[in-house]
Amino acid sequence: MSKGRILVTGGTGYIGSHTAVELQNAGYEVIIIDNLSNSNIEVLDGIEKITGIRPAFKEMDLCDKAALEDLFVQYPGILGVINFAAYKAVGESVKMPLKYYHNNLVSVVNLMELMPKYNVKGFVFSSSCTVYGQPDKEYLPVTESAPRKKAMSPYGNTKAICEDIIHDTITSGATFKSIILRYFNPIGAHPTAIIGELPNGVPQNLLPFVTQTAAGIREQLSVYGNDYNTPDGSCIRDYINVVDLAKAHVIAVDRMIQDKCLEPVEIFNLGTGRGLSVLEILNTFEKVTGVKVNYKIVGRREGDIEQVWADPVKANTVLGWTATESVEDTLASAWKWQQKLMADAKK
Ligand code: WQD
Repeated sequence: MSKGRILVTGGTGYIGSHTAVELQNAGYEVIIIDNLSNSNIEVLDGIEKITGIRPAFKEMDLCDKAALEDLFVQYPGILGVINFAAYKAVGESVKMPLKYYHNNLVSVVNLMELMPKYNVKGFVFSSSCTVYGQPDKEYLPVTESAPRKKAMSPYGNTKAICEDIIHDTITSGATFKSIILRYFNPIGAHPTAIIGELPNGVPQNLLPFVTQTAAGIREQLSVYGNDYNTPDGSCIRDYINVVDLAKAHVIAVDRMIQDKCLEPVEIFNLGTGRGLSVLEILNTFEKVTGVKVNYKIVGRREGDIEQVWADPVKANTVLGWTATESVEDTLASAWKWQQKLMADAKK
């Protein structure tokens, strides 16, 4: 007997697909919508291979409100919505801000305009630590009460604006609750190596570039700066295992459906509480995999912040969630996934 239907937008993407697996493991019926602009439909095969259950899928654009309403009619009784669907390339957002503002904001507005009509109880929004910008020293590690700062990119700004749209909608008396999850840096892959991160083109994020360099797909990794005010000079981030992150979404959905929320809108930082530098990640990757990564130190990347990591005590105590996977196991899972991709490419 299913615990009920959950709509996962952007569910063929990296975090969305891992969350679909954990939702199914928890007994929910998963419905995925995605416009496949930054993911592959074969991910559905991977989810089914892991759980034995193929999620319902509809290719569609969340900005198409009529199509979205048809989806709610086609699948009555959706209890919760988890919204992953968004453009997320920081650099591209600087070049094409309107593409990001239109897509990332209209999709959230469409969802929230339709959810009351179809009695949806809860809305989980995928936000980002990017809303904190570079926290002042006294705010590190960063808690949910740290001040939000002007985003360094239109992408980051869409996250902050969506949080405000959600907050204003809920406080105006909306009939559903919302939990906003602020991710730090998701990395790694499912331990089966059946699903993982599938960057489009040249990876922008650190880990896929590391694994592609280790695999010989990329010639050399550029480390963007070692002249920061950190112990080894490279930037510090809070790298969180993607399966740990996915499990937090299941807990958030349960919480809203079981009416356990303490406020109409709850915000949680999803991080490990441990900051690691780029060079520490590289060294740990080499130690865990035995594979050397060819890299060179280059100039800083425009828009990078120096250091941010979470204080996850609120998620640990209120949400009842803790990141459990070690960075070593997480890096090993990323490498196992990269090797699987290379083996598949040879078939
Ligand atoms: C991490 C560190 C880079 C690549 C961004 C978004 C965030 C989220 C995750 C979407 C930085 C360094 C990276 C490389 C490097 N986005 N780096 N060489 O910038 O912390 O966060 O991606 O969900 O919202 O802001 O992640 O992985 O790009 O960079 O040295 O080739 O690795 O300078 O210090 P970031 P990242």
